[in-house]
Amino acid sequence: MLTHPLVQRPPLRTVSIIGSGSYVPARVLTNADLERLVETTDEWITSRTGIRERRIAADGEATSDMAVSAAGRAMESAGISSEAFDLIIVATITPDMLFPSTACLVQQKLGANRAVAFDIEAACSGFVYALEIAAQFIQSHSFQTALVIGAEKMSSVIDWADRNTCVLFGDGAGAAVLQHRPGSQGLLTTCLGSDGTKASLLELPAGGSACPSTAESVAGRLHFLRMDGKEIFRNAVTAMVSAANEALSRCGIGIEQIRCIIPHQANQRILTAVGERLGATSGQVFVNVDRYGNTSAASVGIALDEAVRSGRIQRGDLVLVVVFGAGLTWGATVLEW
Ligand code: UT7
Repeated sequence: MLTHPLVQRPPLRTVSIIGSGSYVPARVLTNADLERLVETTDEWITSRTGIRERRIAADGEATSDMAVSAAGRAMESAGISSEAFDLIIVATITPDMLFPSTACLVQQKLGANRAVAFDIEAACSGFVYALEIAAQFIQSHSFQTALVIGAEKMSSVIDWADRNTCVLFGDGAGAAVLQHRPGSQGLLTTCLGSDGTKASLLELPAGGSACPSTAESVAGRLHFLRMDGKEIFRNAVTAMVSAANEALSRCGIGIEQIRCIIPHQANQRILTAVGERLGATSGQVFVNVDRYGNTSAASVGIALDEAVRSGRIQRGDLVLVVVFGAGLTWGATVLEW
């Protein structure tokens, strides 16, 4: 009988984000543009959501293209090239196609030949889920350098005749490069959660194995996103506050020690409610939902990058990232930048 000696693993190590990048398409769709598309007003959209405009990908511009642009900026800020990656994770609900994964398409476009590449799907929570997965691999020495991307072409799954949803979403991508950085604590803790009993609150029913694409499914508009906005709103506030508090308490710190809160950008009213319930000042809460709308898995990646590039986050600052999305899924991460 063969006996296998136990593989000796080195002790777990810390994992830091060593570079960030983001990309939004050039085309701007304003609330005034939407007034011409559906029965809505700039006043309704602004007062109910805080959104003033969003970005829409060009014809032929796929999720992987936006992901690659964000990745390029993250690599530049990290000072590394694509050969360094041993892991690429793309979080998306709008992959280029059902398969192969968008991550494999990104790998090919970047020429990151050594990398293991796969997608994860946790809707708007995807970036935080992907960060934690990548961090576990680096912590345990399986991989050295990971690229995490949240990228979405939400405009491809929006029913442009449904005013309840078409005013809310936008396209874009956010990326982070992860490595062990000696002397930094990096990602301190991550709390994740899911509740499949509420899956039907936010879904895209057709195009999968439960309801394959047919002429009838297209005619029934089943290939578009559907949402019970009110219920999602309620669940989002509760879950985000609870995940954030759990993450803070695991770290033994209070909200006042957090320099910047990066919440999933879905609705200004959600951001305000979450900030208030956490006892944060409005100055701590990063907001760009007014310019991009809800970019799903891309949202916190873009926000984190903008906060870093604008100087809102400096080396050594404590940052709280908190997300919520379809599934239901949610999560919170506390990290030292
Ligand atoms: O990324 C995942 C997380 N997603 C979210 O967090 C989204 C969460 N939900 C929301 O942000 C909000 O629920 C919405 C912005 C979607 C809706 O805001 P609300 O204050 O909950 O509005 P409502 O659903 O109660 O709708 C109020 C009214 C309705 O009319 P009636 O039935 O009262 O006559 C809607 O038909 O507003 C109407 N309405 C609109 N009117 C003008 C809905 N959409 C529009 C629109 N323009 N675009």
